[in-house]
Amino acid sequence: MKCGKFITLEGGEGVGKSTNLAFIKTHLEQHSIPVVVTREPGGTYLAEKIRNLLLDNESEKLTETAELLLMFAARSQHIKHVIEPALAAGNWVLCDRFTDASYAYQGGGRSMKASAIEWLEHFVQGALRPDLTLLLDAPVDVGIERARQRGQFDRFEMEQNTFFERVRRAYLLQMELNPERIKLIKANQPLGDVQRSIADALRVFLK
Ligand code: TMP
Repeated sequence: MKCGKFITLEGGEGVGKSTNLAFIKTHLEQHSIPVVVTREPGGTYLAEKIRNLLLDNESEKLTETAELLLMFAARSQHIKHVIEPALAAGNWVLCDRFTDASYAYQGGGRSMKASAIEWLEHFVQGALRPDLTLLLDAPVDVGIERARQRGQFDRFEMEQNTFFERVRRAYLLQMELNPERIKLIKANQPLGDVQRSIADALRVFLK
């Protein structure tokens, strides 16, 4: 059923996702590709409400299980109401984070079992997987410093650097396990070089 391509952008905190998301959107549009840009957790009315619950740092302590289930509850809404209809209509979907973030943050950061995440991935997504994932990678210190300069911290940004080291390692493991789909983009280099690497990774899809 899927017609358009499903592209996801991943990475730890402060690796430049927003800037590069805008770059990818423009790059695809320059190739006359209709793009729907969206994000996780979020992307629908209800999923954005779930996002607020997940990022709220003043609520009662969220259990790791509740955190994981809320991520996938939001994802289910997002897939059914935004991603699948957009792809079926021939759009490309460019999504700021997707399930690799669950492997990285809940699996790596929170040390939850990958088997639980895998089960939810199959249950919630069926066969839906991204066609391409761009993983922006930078040393944790560099990213955290950039993220913290933005001001107010959400519930994840308040975590210790050791948490983000586990997140980074889990992302890199996801890349090793899915070498065809996940392309590493070194984010700790001049923006022009980052964007050249992104354009290279997209080239095969633009033929
Ligand atoms: P951001 O996308 O605006 O950076 O913030 C979303 C936060 O949610 C970010 O800290 C990563 C986290 N997250 C997870 O922990 N698991 C997930 O599956 C997703 C999509 C995001």
